[in-house]
Amino acid sequence: MTDRDLSPATYAVVAGRPDRTEGAPVNPPVVLSSTYIGRGAAQPGVPVYTRLGTETWEPLEEALAGLEHADQPGLVFGSGMAAVSAALDLARPGTRVVVPQHAYHAALVAARRLRERSGIEVVEVDIADTDAVRAAIAGGPTSLVWAETPTNPMLEIADIREISAAAHELGALVVVDNTFATPLAQRPLKLGADVVVHSVSKYLSGHSDLILGAVLTDSREVYDAARERRDIGGAIAGPWETWLALRGLRTLALRVERSQANAAELARRLAEHADVVAVSHPSLPSHPQHERATAQMDGYGSIITLRPAGGAAGADALAAAVELWVPATSLGGVESSLERRRRFASEAPTVPEDLLRLSVGIEDVEDLWRDLRVGLAAATLV
Ligand SMILES: Cc1ncc(COP(=O)(O)O)c(C=O)c1O
Repeated sequence: MTDRDLSPATYAVVAGRPDRTEGAPVNPPVVLSSTYIGRGAAQPGVPVYTRLGTETWEPLEEALAGLEHADQPGLVFGSGMAAVSAALDLARPGTRVVVPQHAYHAALVAARRLRERSGIEVVEVDIADTDAVRAAIAGGPTSLVWAETPTNPMLEIADIREISAAAHELGALVVVDNTFATPLAQRPLKLGADVVVHSVSKYLSGHSDLILGAVLTDSREVYDAARERRDIGGAIAGPWETWLALRGLRTLALRVERSQANAAELARRLAEHADVVAVSHPSLPSHPQHERATAQMDGYGSIITLRPAGGAAGADALAAAVELWVPATSLGGVESSLERRRRFASEAPTVPEDLLRLSVGIEDVEDLWRDLRVGLAAATLV
């Protein structure tokens, strides 16, 4: 039986375990050492210094590469943004990078900095509009296409297969930020993308208790470049975070199945609620890329966007009134949370002022609904 014969739910449980020798621990150990004994010339695969690699990363890297069906070993980073930055650095100076106008706002800032530092032209597009993406790729010597999907926070769905075909025709790499979907709902490398990045801080670890990132790829060249970015940039993962992330990953399938089911049910109810101005979730037939999501994904994700009555003040009143939903940034934890995205000045001005991003957790859906209705009522009173 190979790893790829296993369902992802099983693989997440068994991956990265120590060999089954008599007396071996069931879980991988945490090695706390910054350096390793070494006398002669450094040998490939033999640890030297923890910034350059440690056995504590390897079980998580194996598990993430296996879940994404990546041919190269996984690379964990100290944060999702460290992984994003390493992937953006694959862009060649003097070329064009195509990015979604609604990618995670710090990723957009990082892309714009490339423009200032490296003379890279950064073109922001509606990533759901495949013709616009094709035109942007063809409009200059493009070396990289960033295809976060679903986008944060607008939940646009990019057509990974079509975008990858168009990019490859002109020699560009395609990076997909798969944080929102998780490898359970979407495997970008199998759809033609070259690189997957994750904020492991979200669903993969799943408990809002750590910050980590990862890069996964089939390409040796990309692996070597990203690994060098990690070695030299030094944005490495801490040992405890890595171990905790692997522990969280064991329950990924249970968590994602439950939170996706909760999200679809809440979205359906919100769509019928009189005090809701707009609701978006890829499961809803009203979502502009509902059919694309159905064809491309094995689940619709657990993020909903909601515009309650009362504008931005109504959204703030809702966030203040709920008792179960946690008013906090980030997403992908077992607990349901929400926030008005435009409370950040760096969020794109095309994101509506009153838009709440809901990260649906694994609680009982009826409890979540009851609490949300209290919040919706509070929004109408502003
Ligand atoms: C889609 C997406 N990508 C990347 C990141 C950055 O990850 P981190 O916060 O782990 O650096 C985030 C964080 O919210 C995100 O939502």
